[in-house]
Amino acid sequence: SMTSSLTPNLTSCHWSYSDHVGRPLFCCKASPDPRLPVVDFQFPDHSDPIRVRRPVHRLSADFIAKYEKAFAIMKSLPDDHPHNFWRQADQHCLYCTGSYEQTGSDALLFVHRDWLFFPFHRAYIYFHERIIGKLIGDDTFALPYWPWDVPEGMLFPDFYHRGAFNDSERDFSHLIPLHQTADIAFDGVESGLGAADQVAANLAMMYHQMVSGARKPELFMGCRMRPGRAGACDGPGTIELIPHNTMHEWVTNRANPDWEDMGSYYTASRDPSFYAHHSNIDRLWSVWKELHGGRLEFDDPAWLDAAFYFRDENLRLVRVRVRDVLDMSKLRYTYEEIDRPWLETRP
Ligand code: C2O
Repeated sequence: SMTSSLTPNLTSCHWSYSDHVGRPLFCCKASPDPRLPVVDFQFPDHSDPIRVRRPVHRLSADFIAKYEKAFAIMKSLPDDHPHNFWRQADQHCLYCTGSYEQTGSDALLFVHRDWLFFPFHRAYIYFHERIIGKLIGDDTFALPYWPWDVPEGMLFPDFYHRGAFNDSERDFSHLIPLHQTADIAFDGVESGLGAADQVAANLAMMYHQMVSGARKPELFMGCRMRPGRAGACDGPGTIELIPHNTMHEWVTNRANPDWEDMGSYYTASRDPSFYAHHSNIDRLWSVWKELHGGRLEFDDPAWLDAAFYFRDENLRLVRVRVRDVLDMSKLRYTYEEIDRPWLETRP
């Protein structure tokens, strides 16, 4: 008998549906073979270097070249290799479109619009980062982050138009040649604001999403989903709705039926800018936690024991639980500090 938990049942991988037009999808090619041995997550060694994630506007040309090479390598790996770029992207499809049933229940597992949002994406990009480091032979490699919450970061980073970073399915009217200041709360209608007003509106929005609208863990993190059909919930946290969803939509090509790539769960991480977007989301979780005295978000086994499976940089199949990813310092990465101008913009 199996206790039910918010953990995928790897033997249940099945067709799922796209989130806009309900197109059938099959992402299970990237699902690990359930017969593989599973190892429980272990923290990286104390002697491992700390990976320092830097903002996209402060990257060196050398770093960008090295990072681009990593995408070129991932895109050239065999189609069924777990580190292949498209299989890496399918990890998102598996967990975000409902390809899996939960363990011990026929309820589907969804890591969006509930309290799994931050921990799932932290684990996902953690493994992705280490895989890249391994592919380019650099164990200090750290993902960049795209800080659209500060004025210097409110533009689409230009380097994503180059070589293996490029993705044809973006909204180029937002990106080039205008270098439009992002409307981080983009709702499909152009705000029409000039740059200075757009920056001010963005900072006020950030204050609301990080501070005044997010005073309790469930407001920031999302609703407390529990195992089983009766435990389902649909209550995204402040940051997930805006700017997370809205920036996905601002970047993507909305002329596509499912708003592929960035605007749809099954394709979002086929756009290399996804990973810098999500590093920033992950950083904002750590900032929010710091503003709340570092307290544990939910002292609840349904959350702490929820688990995900990833292939690590050495191709092992790892089961990582939410409780494993709550302390960045144990994961041996950190964020280079930037200002928090939105903290001063209480309306
Ligand atoms: Cu799982 Cu930004 O999405």
